Amino acid sequence: MRTPNLTGLVPLWRELTGNTDGPADRLTRAEEAAVARAVHRLSAGFSGDRNIAGQGYLQDAARLGAYLVFFAPISHAQAHAVFNAVSLKPGPSGRALDLGCGPGPVSRALLDLGFTEVHAGDHATEALTVARGLARGARGALHPFFWDGEGDTMLPDGPFDVITFGHVLNELSKRAPDRIERRAALLESLSARLSPGGRLIAFEPASHAINADTLALRDEMVARGFTVEAPCFTTGPCPARAAGAACHGELVWSAPEQVRALARAAHLDKSTLAYGWLVLRAPSAPVDVRPETRVRVVSERLRNKAGRERFVVCGAQGRFSLSAPPDSAAPWTSAWRALGRGDAVDVVAPEARESGWGLTPASRLDKV
Ligand SMILES: C[S@@+](CC[C@H](N)C(=O)[O-])C[C@H]1O[C@@H](n2cnc3c(N)ncnc32)[C@H](O)[C@@H]1O
Repeated sequence: MRTPNLTGLVPLWRELTGNTDGPADRLTRAEEAAVARAVHRLSAGFSGDRNIAGQGYLQDAARLGAYLVFFAPISHAQAHAVFNAVSLKPGPSGRALDLGCGPGPVSRALLDLGFTEVHAGDHATEALTVARGLARGARGALHPFFWDGEGDTMLPDGPFDVITFGHVLNELSKRAPDRIERRAALLESLSARLSPGGRLIAFEPASHAINADTLALRDEMVARGFTVEAPCFTTGPCPARAAGAACHGELVWSAPEQVRALARAAHLDKSTLAYGWLVLRAPSAPVDVRPETRVRVVSERLRNKAGRERFVVCGAQGRFSLSAPPDSAAPWTSAWRALGRGDAVDVVAPEARESGWGLTPASRLDKV
């Protein structure tokens, strides 16, 4: 499914920064250079030892503006990719809660899907004002509120069909040795606000240390009785974590022109977007049984010495190789060619090979 791009950001950026002289549809050269410098500083602050994460970095207009025009379209596209993967739709309440909303890209993606009421919380109050602007023109209503993810602030009453966390869990208690347990406790307590069958949805940066924490949180939630609806098809401990490997999705997208220009100027590659993700159902929620044939691609395309192409996949049986002979004319060839990291497929009638499953002319590959 095509991801809708977040547009109309420059007028909001002008409102926020007071730079009202330039054109409404793009930044001027000088503005672009200044924003690219702020993007570069933000990006550096999010990587390495992440000295700005959780530090109120969206409280000043320059950094919030840079986040709005560069990172918000990325989060919005990732949110849509994750929502599409589980066919998220408004449920009986039509209400959603978006925590750590920042300037509101995930809230906007929820409104795009037809949620009628999105409650959006963050401790950066300036960001909440921008989130309100980003929700303009949507059919549903945005209700911003102050939320302190490490304190004891009031939350709006449920029920919510979905509670979302876009790139925020990794910022909570980030230096605490028990940060995973604290984040799990937060998710567990929030699950009491879900509609029956509602979901907790988180996506996170895919960098090594944050991804390791995402997988540890996944295992902690499973230990607390939650079901991982996606990206996993196994109900046991995470096979990637057990192998010391990473697991993340990857979105190939068509970036809006302004994001492309800023990425070029800030020397960042955003042609594909990697993210760790978790879609959780509460212990009481009924969950569809998935067929044993279903796996998710968790690597890039690899090639064996013998010329066979393969992917590492993960399913109910754990992590293993799914390979195909070169130059096959079997009916699954075009599906195989289109396969990429993050895709879910049903592999019907594979042959057993030493390293996993192999496709034969009699096999079928059905994209989920
Ligand atoms: C990387 S931004 C993500 C914003 C948005 N969800 C997105 O996906 O683009 C992280 C957000 O979490 C918020 N945040 C970090 N720590 C928080 C805390 N302890 N309480 C409330 N919000 C927090 C920040 O203010 C920021 O808006």
